[in-house]
Amino acid sequence: MTKILELEKVTKNFSQAGQKIEIIKNADFVIKSSEFLSLIGPSGSGKTTILQICGMLDNPTSGAVIINGKNMAKANDELRTKVRKLNIGFIYQFHHLLPEFSALENVALPLLIQGVATIEAYKKAQETLNEVELGDRLDFKPSQLSGGQQQRVAIARAIVAKPKLILADEPTGNLDYELSKKIFELLQDLTKKHQIACLIVTHNLELAKKTDKILKIKNGIIE
Ligand SMILES: Nc1ncnc2c1ncn2[C@@H]1O[C@H](COP(=O)(O)OP(=O)(O)OP(=O)(O)O)[C@@H](O)[C@H]1O
Ligand SMILES: [Mg+2]
Repeated sequence: MTKILELEKVTKNFSQAGQKIEIIKNADFVIKSSEFLSLIGPSGSGKTTILQICGMLDNPTSGAVIINGKNMAKANDELRTKVRKLNIGFIYQFHHLLPEFSALENVALPLLIQGVATIEAYKKAQETLNEVELGDRLDFKPSQLSGGQQQRVAIARAIVAKPKLILADEPTGNLDYELSKKIFELLQDLTKKHQIACLIVTHNLELAKKTDKILKIKNGIIE
């Protein structure tokens, strides 16, 4: 299997009031194509920080972030943005959908940003919303959708451009257990179907156990 993302000896320090805090110590892991991994660990242990580094939204203090075989840790912003747009989709705990836009518009946006023609972008957005069973809610704004429906729109938005990797930060964190399970399974099914790798942060051990591999972070160390 091809390696989509590799972290090599990644460290991350923050300084707060003149004091250095080591959040990530020598993180080393690989995500291969179509792999579905979970990342677990206590609150404040650095899970979001790791995801931000994987998605090139934050820089490591040292170490390499290799995407499709290229070290992006020292690449310029323009290249990082380009590689991110073409390879990575994000899902957040709170959907982060644009409130003024309909479900269809929200899902079409990543394609429009990539320069896909409008008609084509809306066609693909509609197909993807059908896949998350929201074909009957195309014109609804986020506020007119339930929490689970909002997260399904967020999943559709993350997969519509067929990225190589999805980074999901507690995407079911504010949903009840049954709904979390459904959303989780939907994400698993769709990423498998489209051969998209996924790294999901979760506090739910039951769900984490259903993934190909569990990465555990504690005291800055990933095992
Ligand atoms: N910009 C920053 N400056 C200083 N410290 C920071 C900064 N961002 C994060 N931290 C610290 O880094 C640590 C890890 O934060 P992070 O958000 O990655 O945790 P997390 O594992 O995602 O936690 P949670 O499960 O609560 O979301 C925390 O202790 C936090 O205080
Ligand atoms: Mg977090």
